[in-house]
Amino acid sequence: MLKNLFATTQISPASADLPGGGAHGEATLKRALTARHLVLLGIGAIIGAGIFVITGQAAAEHAGPAIVLSFVFAGIACALAALCYAEFAAMLPVSGSAYSYSYATLGEYVAWFVGWSLVLEYLFTVATVAAGWSGYFNKLLALISGWIGHDVSLPQTLAAAPFTVVDGHIQATGMFINLPAVAIIAAITGLCYVGITQSAFVNSIIVAIKVTVILLFIAFATKYINPDNWHPFIPASEGASKYGWAGVGRAAAIVFFSYIGFDAVSTAAGEAKNPQRDMPIGIIGSLILCTILYIIVAGILTGIADFRLLGTPEPVSTALDNYPSLHWLQIIVVIGAVTGLSSVMLVMLMGQPRIFYSMARDGLIPAVFGRIHQKFRTPHVGTVVVGVLAAALGGLFNIGVLGEMVAMGTLLAFATVCIGVLVLRYTRPELPRAFRVPVPWIVCPLGALACMALFLQSFLEHWRWMLAWIAIGQAIYFLYGYSHSKLRKPAA
Ligand code: ALA
Repeated sequence: MLKNLFATTQISPASADLPGGGAHGEATLKRALTARHLVLLGIGAIIGAGIFVITGQAAAEHAGPAIVLSFVFAGIACALAALCYAEFAAMLPVSGSAYSYSYATLGEYVAWFVGWSLVLEYLFTVATVAAGWSGYFNKLLALISGWIGHDVSLPQTLAAAPFTVVDGHIQATGMFINLPAVAIIAAITGLCYVGITQSAFVNSIIVAIKVTVILLFIAFATKYINPDNWHPFIPASEGASKYGWAGVGRAAAIVFFSYIGFDAVSTAAGEAKNPQRDMPIGIIGSLILCTILYIIVAGILTGIADFRLLGTPEPVSTALDNYPSLHWLQIIVVIGAVTGLSSVMLVMLMGQPRIFYSMARDGLIPAVFGRIHQKFRTPHVGTVVVGVLAAALGGLFNIGVLGEMVAMGTLLAFATVCIGVLVLRYTRPELPRAFRVPVPWIVCPLGALACMALFLQSFLEHWRWMLAWIAIGQAIYFLYGYSHSKLRKPAA
């Protein structure tokens, strides 16, 4: 049994989801994406609730102005992981991302574990970001109501989730449903259903809008920086992980969420025109651009406002509260957030069904997730299932603990990918690698360690939820995946 659990798939360029139709006339994914699309997909997935919602809370409650350092530390961990993703995605251009890389290097059991962790990353990100989107959307409706002199806001019971998690326990909030969250997920699911080209096109427009908004914020808010706000840069410790270096570390684990998404580029490897060349460009390029923007925005946020005031659901807008001459920018920031958060949901909603597609092809989940729409050439059944689940989560639960669950799942996947690169260098040194991680003996272990260090920061607080998630995953694997695995049941 142990041998079965650690059996790996064979890697060869032919193991990719190659274009030109599948066996028996089955439809396959469509190779339509260029390097530009891939960089834009990365930026589309990366910039979102992290910078527009979570950063302010992490600064107010944990790091103070040193939130900039938290961004640097989380950015370094991501850069190491991104190099490893780039090597894999160029070598094995399939849609399963970390799941497929683990299957090829560390075996089926680890692959399942990683695939299950990726559900936290992709599906839960959609729900988390939808909740953040809803907050900004409600703010936009309030602004519009003010302009037109007529209240177009939603009743509060229809604009907030009925459940929240307090101290590890689920509590009712008295609300009915977070309708905007459900509506935006339904709209994006529809888009993902009809095609990769359409999805990539809409993503490009959204990215253009949100990057413009961030550049406007940088250009106009910079001159209001008061350096006094940066002193002390690392406020004295006020308890466990509030300020001091411990707070910087804790905040790094929280703002790590802002970087999630560069790896989602790898789920589009099965649809890239020239994955060998373009995957590394998409993954590393999008991460570099966003890291630069994040560090600048974090510096400005804490420079124009006292960090203690930033713990609101819309901190970028809050930071501008004291500057009446920048009221116009505040409105643009709200519009930028409403638009920008949509592309995170879009790319993540594209990613999850593609990972399920790979898992279904390996027999670990029901085959229906591996079906491709004859006309649209998208994994349509998986897309609808993911959309419905994400809408239920986003409509019923508050953002809180979801964000950290997302980060923990992602960090486990990142650490595994870092280790996988090293394992494959040792077990299959002869494989052609279009992109190679430099000094892998240092980069890979360091990447895995950095990710696990961030993971521990969140795990120590939320270990019950994480262990429950892992236990459910184990049950599904041993009750379904193990006996249906194609690795043990070669196709007739
Ligand atoms: N990085 C994405 C965000 O911040 C998940 O919303």
